[in-house]
Amino acid sequence: MSAVVVVGSANMDFTIQVDRPPQQGETIFGRGLLVSFGGKGANQAVAARRAGANVIFIGKVGQDRYGEEIRKNLETMGIDGTGVISDPACNTGTAYILVDPSGENQIVVVPGCNHRLTPEDLQHGDRLLSGAILLLQLETPHETVGWALRRAKEKGMRTILNPAPATPLPREHFSSVDLLTPNELEASSLTGVPVRDRNGAEKAGERLLEMGCGDVIITLGGRGALWVGKGGARYFPAFSVRPVDSTGAGDAFNGALAAALAEGQALEKAIPVANAAGALATTRRGAQESLPERAAIQTLLSAVH
Ligand code: RIB
Repeated sequence: MSAVVVVGSANMDFTIQVDRPPQQGETIFGRGLLVSFGGKGANQAVAARRAGANVIFIGKVGQDRYGEEIRKNLETMGIDGTGVISDPACNTGTAYILVDPSGENQIVVVPGCNHRLTPEDLQHGDRLLSGAILLLQLETPHETVGWALRRAKEKGMRTILNPAPATPLPREHFSSVDLLTPNELEASSLTGVPVRDRNGAEKAGERLLEMGCGDVIITLGGRGALWVGKGGARYFPAFSVRPVDSTGAGDAFNGALAAALAEGQALEKAIPVANAAGALATTRRGAQESLPERAAIQTLLSAVH
């Protein structure tokens, strides 16, 4: 099977449960501190690996305790992390996550070394172009993301960009994206189109196609996903689960999607796989510890189909 190459962030996450988020100037009590592996890039690499893909991860960590633990974790997961650079001049990225009783979260990321990943860093060795699919997010510099997208396209790789977190994206990047996977907020911030319902999602998707993307999948949280392509829009319903923590659900979706596409599955088959992975990730606390194994994804898919 062809490999999935993931370029992106790796963080150490500090997650706590709260009854509600604090108001401005307020101090509240939280509970259940969970210190665990995260970062949208590393999460998506683990999600793709658990979904059955061969995975190469490229990123940057500090020469510190967390950086060393992240490297070991990737190795334990069976992910090729030889493209991960240790930089003595920065700290490994960290994220601070509040989760409320409904499972919704608020995240503050301190990017550290993730923001020092350069195009030159991607040119060490031949890891970037060693797969069929390149998967990226926006927790590393835009310049690096754009460079990787263009290089992968030149070499005939299929490119997937998960534009998270929502940040303005240089227009020239879009034409190098085969598949863009924003959530509602990200789709809205990239297009200026309000995305409050399926109709809004369809309009935003069409706008993103006009901006140059090959296909667009807008994830709709607990309502599933909408695929907008040249042939029109198609809705894929969500799987019904009881959510406890939505952290990592988008990463589960993207990693499983890339894994299914690397196996040669068509988009209409890969999207339900990704939806199932995303749903399962909400049923457990944390980011990487919540990402489902292939067998669990298959069980949920076969329970419904
Ligand atoms: O998508 C969830 C991730 O966002 C967390 O693991 C955190 O590190 C941030 O990058």
